[in-house]
Amino acid sequence: MANTSLNKHKIRILLLEGIHATALKTLNDAGYTNVEVVDESLSEEQLCERIRGVHMLGIRSRTQIREKVVHAADKLIAIGCFCIGTNQVDLVSTLIQGIPVFNAPFSNTRSVAELVIAEAILLLRGVPQKSALMHRGVWQKSAKNAFEIRNKTLGIIGYGNIGTQVSVLAESLGMRVHFHDVVAKLPLGNAQPVATLEELLTTSDVVSFHVPENSSTRYMMTAERIAAMKSGSILINASRGTIIDLEALTTALDSGHLLGAAIDVFPVEPKSNDEAFISPLRDNDNQVSNVLLTPHVGGSTMEAQENIGVEVANKLITYSDNGSTIASVNFPSVALPTHEGSHRLLHIHHNVPGVLSEINRIFSEQNINITGQYLQTNETVGYVVVDVEEGRSAMALQQLQQVEGTIRSRLLF
Ligand code: NAI
Repeated sequence: MANTSLNKHKIRILLLEGIHATALKTLNDAGYTNVEVVDESLSEEQLCERIRGVHMLGIRSRTQIREKVVHAADKLIAIGCFCIGTNQVDLVSTLIQGIPVFNAPFSNTRSVAELVIAEAILLLRGVPQKSALMHRGVWQKSAKNAFEIRNKTLGIIGYGNIGTQVSVLAESLGMRVHFHDVVAKLPLGNAQPVATLEELLTTSDVVSFHVPENSSTRYMMTAERIAAMKSGSILINASRGTIIDLEALTTALDSGHLLGAAIDVFPVEPKSNDEAFISPLRDNDNQVSNVLLTPHVGGSTMEAQENIGVEVANKLITYSDNGSTIASVNFPSVALPTHEGSHRLLHIHHNVPGVLSEINRIFSEQNINITGQYLQTNETVGYVVVDVEEGRSAMALQQLQQVEGTIRSRLLF
Protein backbone atom coordinates (compact mmCIF):
# COMPACT_ATOMS: atom_id res chain seq x y z
CA MET A 1 0.00 0.00 0.00
CA ALA A 2 1.46 3.38 -0.94
CA ASN A 3 2.06 5.95 1.75
CA THR A 4 0.84 9.52 1.73
CA SER A 5 2.48 12.32 3.65
CA LEU A 6 -0.80 12.98 5.47
CA ASN A 7 -1.83 9.96 7.52
CA LYS A 8 -4.65 8.22 5.65
CA HIS A 9 -6.81 8.13 8.75
CA LYS A 10 -6.73 11.91 8.73
CA ILE A 11 -7.85 12.22 5.13
CA ARG A 12 -11.51 13.17 5.41
CA ILE A 13 -13.86 11.82 2.76
CA LEU A 14 -17.51 12.79 2.37
CA LEU A 15 -19.76 10.56 0.23
CA LEU A 16 -23.20 11.98 -0.60
CA GLU A 17 -26.36 10.73 -2.32
CA GLY A 18 -26.30 7.10 -1.15
CA ILE A 19 -23.28 6.09 -3.21
CA HIS A 20 -23.07 2.28 -3.50
CA ALA A 21 -21.45 0.50 -0.54
CA THR A 22 -18.67 -0.82 -2.82
CA ALA A 23 -17.17 2.70 -2.74
CA LEU A 24 -16.86 2.71 1.05
CA LYS A 25 -15.41 -0.81 1.05
CA THR A 26 -12.86 0.05 -1.64
CA LEU A 27 -11.78 3.17 0.27
CA ASN A 28 -11.59 1.31 3.60
CA ASP A 29 -9.61 -1.55 2.04
CA ALA A 30 -7.08 1.00 0.79
CA GLY A 31 -6.69 2.41 4.31
CA TYR A 32 -9.06 5.39 4.01
CA THR A 33 -11.23 4.98 7.08
CA ASN A 34 -12.23 8.57 7.79
CA VAL A 35 -15.30 8.40 5.54
CA GLU A 36 -18.66 10.02 6.23
CA VAL A 37 -21.57 8.59 4.25
CA VAL A 38 -24.71 10.68 3.71
CA ASP A 39 -27.76 9.27 1.91
CA GLU A 40 -29.11 12.53 0.47
CA SER A 41 -27.72 15.29 -1.72
CA LEU A 42 -27.05 18.58 0.07
CA SER A 43 -28.15 22.10 -0.89
CA GLU A 44 -25.45 24.60 -1.83
CA GLU A 45 -25.70 26.23 1.59
CA GLN A 46 -25.45 22.94 3.46
CA LEU A 47 -22.57 21.80 1.28
CA CYS A 48 -20.61 25.03 1.79
CA GLU A 49 -20.81 24.26 5.51
CA ARG A 50 -20.12 20.52 5.36
CA ILE A 51 -17.27 20.67 2.84
CA ARG A 52 -14.89 22.53 5.17
CA GLY A 53 -12.02 20.26 6.12
CA VAL A 54 -13.05 17.58 3.59
CA HIS A 55 -10.20 16.28 1.41
CA MET A 56 -12.18 14.18 -1.05
CA LEU A 57 -15.86 14.46 -2.01
CA GLY A 58 -18.04 11.84 -3.67
CA ILE A 59 -21.33 12.82 -5.32
CA ARG A 60 -23.81 11.45 -7.85
CA SER A 61 -25.82 13.52 -10.31
CA ARG A 62 -28.01 15.62 -7.97
CA THR A 63 -25.42 17.52 -5.95
CA GLN A 64 -24.47 20.76 -7.66
CA ILE A 65 -20.86 21.87 -7.29
CA ARG A 66 -20.74 25.51 -8.37
CA GLU A 67 -18.12 28.21 -7.75
CA LYS A 68 -19.40 29.04 -4.26
CA VAL A 69 -18.92 25.46 -3.08
CA VAL A 70 -15.49 25.23 -4.71
CA HIS A 71 -14.40 28.35 -2.83
CA ALA A 72 -15.78 27.07 0.47
CA ALA A 73 -13.77 23.86 0.05
CA ASP A 74 -10.61 24.74 1.96
CA LYS A 75 -8.96 21.30 1.92
CA LEU A 76 -10.51 19.59 -1.09
CA ILE A 77 -8.01 17.78 -3.34
CA ALA A 78 -10.38 15.76 -5.58
CA ILE A 79 -14.03 15.14 -6.49
CA GLY A 80 -15.43 11.78 -7.54
CA CYS A 81 -18.67 11.79 -9.55
CA PHE A 82 -20.07 8.31 -8.93
CA CYS A 83 -21.97 8.43 -12.22
CA ILE A 84 -21.27 8.98 -15.92
CA GLY A 85 -22.12 12.66 -16.46
CA THR A 86 -20.24 15.58 -14.90
CA ASN A 87 -22.55 18.49 -15.83
CA GLN A 88 -23.37 18.97 -12.15
CA VAL A 89 -19.81 20.12 -11.45
CA ASP A 90 -18.29 23.44 -12.45
CA LEU A 91 -15.30 21.91 -14.21
CA VAL A 92 -13.60 25.27 -14.78
CA SER A 93 -13.73 26.48 -11.18
CA THR A 94 -12.51 23.13 -9.90
CA LEU A 95 -9.68 23.17 -12.44
CA ILE A 96 -8.60 26.69 -11.47
CA GLN A 97 -8.53 25.61 -7.83
CA GLY A 98 -6.41 22.57 -8.78
CA ILE A 99 -9.10 19.99 -8.00
CA PRO A 100 -9.28 17.07 -10.43
CA VAL A 101 -12.73 15.60 -11.07
CA PHE A 102 -13.19 11.89 -11.80
CA ASN A 103 -16.18 9.90 -13.09
CA ALA A 104 -17.05 6.39 -14.26
CA PRO A 105 -17.45 6.39 -18.01
CA PHE A 106 -17.17 2.59 -18.53
CA SER A 107 -18.99 1.04 -15.61
CA ASN A 108 -22.30 0.60 -17.40
CA THR A 109 -20.98 -0.28 -20.87
CA ARG A 110 -21.88 -3.95 -20.55
CA SER A 111 -25.36 -3.12 -19.22
CA VAL A 112 -26.17 -1.14 -22.38
CA ALA A 113 -24.71 -3.83 -24.65
CA GLU A 114 -26.80 -6.58 -23.04
CA LEU A 115 -30.02 -4.58 -23.37
CA VAL A 116 -29.34 -3.94 -27.06
CA ILE A 117 -28.77 -7.62 -27.79
CA ALA A 118 -31.89 -8.63 -25.86
CA GLU A 119 -33.94 -6.05 -27.76
CA ALA A 120 -32.63 -7.25 -31.12
CA ILE A 121 -33.73 -10.80 -30.32
CA LEU A 122 -37.15 -9.77 -29.00
CA LEU A 123 -37.86 -7.47 -31.95
CA LEU A 124 -36.81 -10.04 -34.56
CA ARG A 125 -39.29 -12.44 -32.95
CA GLY A 126 -42.04 -9.80 -32.73
CA VAL A 127 -42.30 -10.32 -28.97
CA PRO A 128 -43.47 -6.79 -28.01
CA GLN A 129 -46.32 -7.10 -30.49
CA LYS A 130 -47.26 -10.66 -29.45
CA SER A 131 -47.13 -9.79 -25.77
CA ALA A 132 -49.32 -6.70 -26.25
CA LEU A 133 -51.88 -8.77 -28.17
CA MET A 134 -51.96 -11.45 -25.49
CA HIS A 135 -52.54 -8.84 -22.80
CA ARG A 136 -55.65 -7.96 -24.84
CA GLY A 137 -56.75 -11.59 -24.95
CA VAL A 138 -55.57 -12.28 -28.53
CA TRP A 139 -53.88 -15.66 -29.27
CA GLN A 140 -52.10 -15.45 -32.63
CA LYS A 141 -49.75 -18.42 -33.00
CA SER A 142 -47.75 -17.87 -36.17
CA ALA A 143 -44.16 -17.88 -37.42
CA LYS A 144 -44.83 -14.89 -39.69
CA ASN A 145 -42.22 -12.15 -39.26
CA ALA A 146 -40.39 -14.15 -36.57
CA PHE A 147 -36.67 -14.58 -37.25
CA GLU A 148 -33.58 -15.98 -35.59
CA ILE A 149 -30.77 -13.57 -34.87
CA ARG A 150 -28.18 -16.05 -36.20
CA ASN A 151 -26.75 -15.11 -39.62
CA LYS A 152 -28.37 -11.68 -39.56
CA THR A 153 -26.26 -8.59 -40.16
CA LEU A 154 -25.88 -6.12 -37.31
CA GLY A 155 -24.83 -2.61 -38.32
CA ILE A 156 -23.23 -0.69 -35.45
CA ILE A 157 -22.87 3.07 -35.77
CA GLY A 158 -20.19 4.30 -33.38
CA TYR A 159 -17.62 1.58 -32.62
CA GLY A 160 -16.53 2.87 -29.22
CA ASN A 161 -16.78 1.33 -25.76
CA ILE A 162 -20.39 0.22 -26.08
CA GLY A 163 -20.37 -0.45 -29.84
CA THR A 164 -17.44 -2.87 -29.50
CA GLN A 165 -19.10 -4.72 -26.59
CA VAL A 166 -22.27 -5.11 -28.66
CA SER A 167 -20.07 -6.37 -31.50
CA VAL A 168 -18.51 -9.12 -29.36
CA LEU A 169 -21.83 -10.28 -27.92
CA ALA A 170 -23.54 -10.25 -31.33
CA GLU A 171 -20.81 -12.37 -32.93
CA SER A 172 -21.05 -14.91 -30.15
CA LEU A 173 -24.72 -15.32 -31.13
CA GLY A 174 -23.77 -15.94 -34.75
CA MET A 175 -24.46 -12.46 -36.18
CA ARG A 176 -22.39 -10.84 -38.91
CA VAL A 177 -21.18 -7.50 -37.58
CA HIS A 178 -20.57 -4.43 -39.71
CA PHE A 179 -19.73 -1.08 -38.21
CA HIS A 180 -19.29 2.53 -39.21
CA ASP A 181 -17.22 5.03 -37.25
CA VAL A 182 -15.75 8.41 -38.13
CA VAL A 183 -12.44 7.30 -36.62
CA ALA A 184 -10.50 4.26 -37.89
CA LYS A 185 -11.10 1.52 -35.31
CA LEU A 186 -9.52 -1.89 -34.83
CA PRO A 187 -12.29 -4.42 -35.59
CA LEU A 188 -12.89 -7.05 -32.91
CA GLY A 189 -13.37 -10.66 -33.98
CA ASN A 190 -14.65 -10.82 -37.54
CA ALA A 191 -16.43 -7.46 -37.45
CA GLN A 192 -16.00 -5.44 -40.64
CA PRO A 193 -15.78 -1.69 -41.03
CA VAL A 194 -18.05 -0.11 -43.64
CA ALA A 195 -16.98 3.10 -45.33
CA THR A 196 -20.26 4.98 -45.32
CA LEU A 197 -23.31 5.21 -43.12
CA GLU A 198 -25.48 4.79 -46.23
CA GLU A 199 -23.87 1.43 -47.09
CA LEU A 200 -24.37 0.22 -43.52
CA LEU A 201 -28.03 1.23 -43.51
CA THR A 202 -28.85 -0.51 -46.78
CA THR A 203 -27.19 -3.80 -45.81
CA SER A 204 -28.06 -4.33 -42.12
CA ASP A 205 -30.96 -6.31 -40.63
CA VAL A 206 -30.48 -4.61 -37.27
CA VAL A 207 -29.04 -1.10 -36.94
CA SER A 208 -27.85 0.05 -33.52
CA PHE A 209 -26.55 3.51 -32.60
CA HIS A 210 -23.70 4.03 -30.14
CA VAL A 211 -22.50 7.53 -30.95
CA PRO A 212 -22.09 10.61 -28.73
CA GLU A 213 -24.22 13.69 -29.26
CA ASN A 214 -22.39 16.21 -31.43
CA SER A 215 -22.97 18.24 -34.57
CA SER A 216 -22.24 15.21 -36.78
CA THR A 217 -24.73 12.94 -35.00
CA ARG A 218 -27.59 15.32 -34.14
CA TYR A 219 -30.58 14.06 -36.12
CA MET A 220 -28.25 12.01 -38.31
CA MET A 221 -31.18 9.61 -38.85
CA THR A 222 -33.30 11.77 -41.10
CA ALA A 223 -36.47 10.57 -42.84
CA GLU A 224 -34.35 9.95 -45.94
CA ARG A 225 -31.87 7.73 -44.10
CA ILE A 226 -34.60 5.81 -42.31
CA ALA A 227 -36.20 5.20 -45.70
CA ALA A 228 -32.82 3.94 -46.97
CA MET A 229 -32.76 1.19 -44.32
CA LYS A 230 -33.43 -2.33 -45.51
CA SER A 231 -37.12 -3.16 -45.70
CA GLY A 232 -38.12 -5.27 -42.67
CA SER A 233 -35.09 -4.19 -40.62
CA ILE A 234 -34.89 -3.03 -37.02
CA LEU A 235 -33.59 0.20 -35.48
CA ILE A 236 -32.21 0.43 -31.95
CA ASN A 237 -31.08 3.58 -30.20
CA ALA A 238 -29.67 3.51 -26.67
CA SER A 239 -27.16 6.30 -27.22
CA ARG A 240 -28.52 9.86 -27.25
CA GLY A 241 -32.06 11.07 -27.81
CA THR A 242 -31.31 13.55 -30.55
CA ILE A 243 -29.84 11.05 -33.03
CA ILE A 244 -33.14 9.94 -34.59
CA ASP A 245 -36.00 11.89 -36.16
CA LEU A 246 -38.74 10.18 -34.15
CA GLU A 247 -41.59 11.48 -36.35
CA ALA A 248 -39.91 9.87 -39.37
CA LEU A 249 -39.30 6.67 -37.38
CA THR A 250 -42.98 6.53 -36.41
CA THR A 251 -43.96 6.88 -40.07
CA ALA A 252 -41.55 4.10 -41.11
CA LEU A 253 -42.97 1.79 -38.42
CA ASP A 254 -46.58 2.59 -39.28
CA SER A 255 -45.98 1.93 -42.97
CA GLY A 256 -44.37 -1.43 -42.17
CA HIS A 257 -41.06 -0.39 -43.77
CA LEU A 258 -39.33 -1.20 -40.48
CA LEU A 259 -40.15 -4.39 -38.60
CA GLY A 260 -39.56 -2.81 -35.22
CA ALA A 261 -37.61 -0.40 -33.05
CA ALA A 262 -36.24 -0.11 -29.54
CA ILE A 263 -35.68 3.37 -28.14
CA ASP A 264 -34.15 4.07 -24.72
CA VAL A 265 -33.26 7.76 -25.12
CA PHE A 266 -35.38 10.69 -26.27
CA PRO A 267 -34.79 14.28 -27.42
CA VAL A 268 -36.84 15.51 -24.45
CA GLU A 269 -37.00 13.28 -21.40
CA PRO A 270 -39.11 13.79 -18.26
CA LYS A 271 -37.06 15.47 -15.54
CA SER A 272 -38.40 13.16 -12.85
CA ASN A 273 -40.51 10.02 -12.45
CA ASP A 274 -43.51 12.28 -11.69
CA GLU A 275 -43.52 13.87 -15.14
CA ALA A 276 -45.38 12.33 -18.08
CA PHE A 277 -43.47 10.90 -21.03
CA ILE A 278 -44.46 12.56 -24.30
CA SER A 279 -43.34 11.16 -27.66
CA PRO A 280 -44.76 10.45 -31.12
CA LEU A 281 -43.83 6.80 -30.52
CA ARG A 282 -45.92 6.47 -27.40
CA ASP A 283 -49.39 6.00 -28.79
CA ASN A 284 -48.11 3.47 -31.28
CA ASP A 285 -49.11 0.86 -28.76
CA ASN A 286 -52.69 1.42 -29.91
CA GLN A 287 -51.80 -0.42 -33.10
CA VAL A 288 -50.00 -3.07 -31.02
CA SER A 289 -46.74 -2.20 -32.67
CA ASN A 290 -43.39 -3.93 -32.47
CA VAL A 291 -41.75 -1.09 -30.51
CA LEU A 292 -39.90 -1.31 -27.22
CA LEU A 293 -39.68 1.89 -25.19
CA THR A 294 -37.51 2.13 -22.07
CA PRO A 295 -36.93 5.20 -19.82
CA HIS A 296 -33.19 5.76 -20.39
CA VAL A 297 -32.23 2.69 -18.40
CA GLY A 298 -29.68 1.20 -20.81
CA GLY A 299 -26.92 1.65 -18.27
CA SER A 300 -29.05 1.34 -15.13
CA THR A 301 -28.33 -1.99 -13.48
CA MET A 302 -27.31 -2.99 -9.97
CA GLU A 303 -24.02 -4.27 -11.39
CA ALA A 304 -23.31 -0.91 -13.00
CA GLN A 305 -23.91 0.85 -9.66
CA GLU A 306 -21.53 -1.57 -7.95
CA ASN A 307 -18.91 -1.07 -10.65
CA ILE A 308 -19.24 2.71 -10.43
CA GLY A 309 -18.54 2.54 -6.67
CA VAL A 310 -15.31 0.63 -7.24
CA GLU A 311 -14.16 2.51 -10.36
CA VAL A 312 -14.47 6.03 -8.94
CA ALA A 313 -13.22 5.10 -5.46
CA ASN A 314 -10.12 3.61 -7.09
CA LYS A 315 -9.51 6.78 -9.10
CA LEU A 316 -9.68 8.86 -5.90
CA ILE A 317 -7.36 6.44 -4.11
CA THR A 318 -4.84 6.42 -6.95
CA TYR A 319 -4.77 10.21 -7.07
CA SER A 320 -4.38 10.49 -3.32
CA ASP A 321 -1.78 7.72 -3.09
CA ASN A 322 0.34 8.47 -6.09
CA GLY A 323 -0.80 11.62 -7.87
CA SER A 324 -2.05 10.01 -11.10
CA THR A 325 -4.76 12.06 -12.76
CA ILE A 326 -5.36 9.64 -15.59
CA ALA A 327 -8.97 9.77 -16.83
CA SER A 328 -9.80 12.96 -14.95
CA VAL A 329 -12.45 14.92 -16.87
CA ASN A 330 -11.04 18.39 -16.21
CA PHE A 331 -7.36 17.97 -15.42
CA PRO A 332 -4.11 17.42 -17.35
CA SER A 333 -3.77 13.66 -17.50
CA VAL A 334 -0.62 12.24 -15.92
CA ALA A 335 -0.10 8.48 -15.48
CA LEU A 336 2.53 7.95 -12.80
CA PRO A 337 4.61 4.96 -11.77
CA THR A 338 4.94 4.08 -8.08
CA HIS A 339 7.64 5.99 -6.20
CA GLU A 340 9.20 3.60 -3.73
CA GLY A 341 12.45 4.90 -2.33
CA SER A 342 11.76 8.52 -3.29
CA HIS A 343 9.49 11.30 -2.17
CA ARG A 344 7.00 12.72 -4.66
CA LEU A 345 6.15 16.40 -4.99
CA LEU A 346 2.95 17.38 -6.78
CA HIS A 347 2.76 20.94 -8.02
CA ILE A 348 -0.34 22.42 -9.64
CA HIS A 349 0.09 25.86 -11.15
CA HIS A 350 -1.51 28.37 -13.52
CA ASN A 351 -0.30 27.70 -17.05
CA VAL A 352 1.84 30.85 -17.35
CA PRO A 353 5.34 31.06 -18.87
CA GLY A 354 8.34 30.47 -16.64
CA VAL A 355 6.90 28.19 -13.94
CA LEU A 356 8.76 25.07 -15.03
CA SER A 357 12.10 26.85 -15.39
CA GLU A 358 11.60 28.38 -11.94
CA ILE A 359 10.93 24.93 -10.47
CA ASN A 360 14.03 23.51 -12.15
CA ARG A 361 16.09 26.48 -10.95
CA ILE A 362 15.07 25.75 -7.36
CA PHE A 363 16.08 22.11 -7.60
CA SER A 364 19.35 22.90 -9.27
CA GLU A 365 20.29 25.71 -6.82
CA GLN A 366 19.42 23.53 -3.83
CA ASN A 367 21.32 20.65 -5.42
CA ILE A 368 18.36 18.30 -5.02
CA ASN A 369 18.65 15.14 -7.05
CA ILE A 370 15.55 14.56 -9.23
CA THR A 371 14.81 10.87 -9.84
CA GLY A 372 11.77 11.42 -12.05
CA GLN A 373 9.85 14.35 -13.49
CA TYR A 374 6.47 14.40 -15.21
CA LEU A 375 4.65 17.36 -16.70
CA GLN A 376 1.31 17.83 -18.35
CA THR A 377 -0.52 21.05 -19.10
CA ASN A 378 -3.84 22.11 -20.51
CA GLU A 379 -4.87 25.65 -21.50
CA THR A 380 -5.45 26.66 -17.89
CA VAL A 381 -3.23 24.72 -15.52
CA GLY A 382 0.02 22.83 -15.45
CA TYR A 383 0.69 19.76 -13.34
CA VAL A 384 4.30 18.91 -12.50
CA VAL A 385 5.28 15.85 -10.52
CA VAL A 386 8.83 15.56 -9.26
CA ASP A 387 10.33 12.53 -7.50
CA VAL A 388 13.26 13.50 -5.28
CA GLU A 389 15.61 11.81 -2.86
CA GLU A 390 14.30 11.31 0.65
CA GLY A 391 15.36 13.89 3.21
CA ARG A 392 15.20 16.96 0.97
CA SER A 393 11.53 16.83 0.06
CA ALA A 394 10.06 18.94 2.88
CA MET A 395 12.45 21.78 2.06
CA ALA A 396 11.73 21.40 -1.66
CA LEU A 397 7.99 21.60 -1.00
CA GLN A 398 8.46 24.80 0.96
CA GLN A 399 10.38 26.33 -1.94
CA LEU A 400 7.88 25.14 -4.52
CA GLN A 401 5.04 26.81 -2.66
CA GLN A 402 6.77 30.16 -3.21
CA VAL A 403 6.84 29.81 -7.02
CA GLU A 404 4.69 32.46 -8.66
CA GLY A 405 1.59 30.94 -10.24
CA THR A 406 1.36 28.09 -7.72
CA ILE A 407 -2.20 26.90 -7.08
CA ARG A 408 -1.38 24.11 -4.65
CA SER A 409 1.27 21.54 -3.93
CA ARG A 410 1.39 18.28 -2.05
CA LEU A 411 4.04 15.84 -0.85
CA LEU A 412 3.71 12.06 -0.98
CA PHE A 413 6.05 9.63 0.72
P1 NAI B 1 -17.51 6.19 -27.02
O1 NAI B 1 -17.03 7.59 -27.02
O2 NAI B 1 -16.64 5.13 -26.44
O3 NAI B 1 -17.87 5.76 -28.53
C1 NAI B 1 -18.55 6.59 -29.42
C2 NAI B 1 -18.04 6.26 -30.82
O4 NAI B 1 -18.81 6.99 -31.76
C3 NAI B 1 -16.58 6.69 -31.04
O5 NAI B 1 -15.85 5.59 -31.55
C4 NAI B 1 -16.68 7.82 -32.05
O6 NAI B 1 -15.57 7.90 -32.91
C5 NAI B 1 -17.95 7.44 -32.79
N1 NAI B 1 -18.58 8.54 -33.53
C6 NAI B 1 -18.65 9.85 -33.20
N2 NAI B 1 -19.32 10.54 -34.14
C7 NAI B 1 -19.71 9.62 -35.07
C8 NAI B 1 -20.42 9.71 -36.29
N3 NAI B 1 -20.91 10.87 -36.73
N4 NAI B 1 -20.60 8.58 -37.02
C9 NAI B 1 -20.09 7.39 -36.58
N5 NAI B 1 -19.40 7.25 -35.45
C10 NAI B 1 -19.22 8.35 -34.69
O7 NAI B 1 -18.92 6.21 -26.29
P2 NAI B 1 -19.65 5.02 -25.53
O8 NAI B 1 -19.18 4.95 -24.12
O9 NAI B 1 -19.59 3.81 -26.36
O10 NAI B 1 -21.15 5.59 -25.50
C11 NAI B 1 -21.91 5.69 -26.69
C12 NAI B 1 -23.21 6.45 -26.41
O11 NAI B 1 -24.01 5.74 -25.47
C13 NAI B 1 -23.00 7.84 -25.82
O12 NAI B 1 -23.84 8.73 -26.49
C14 NAI B 1 -23.46 7.71 -24.39
O13 NAI B 1 -23.99 8.92 -23.90
C15 NAI B 1 -24.56 6.65 -24.52
N6 NAI B 1 -24.87 5.94 -23.28
C16 NAI B 1 -26.19 5.65 -23.02
C17 NAI B 1 -26.55 4.99 -21.87
C18 NAI B 1 -27.98 4.66 -21.61
O14 NAI B 1 -28.36 4.54 -20.44
N7 NAI B 1 -28.79 4.49 -22.62
C19 NAI B 1 -25.55 4.62 -20.85
C20 NAI B 1 -24.18 4.87 -21.27
C21 NAI B 1 -23.88 5.54 -22.43
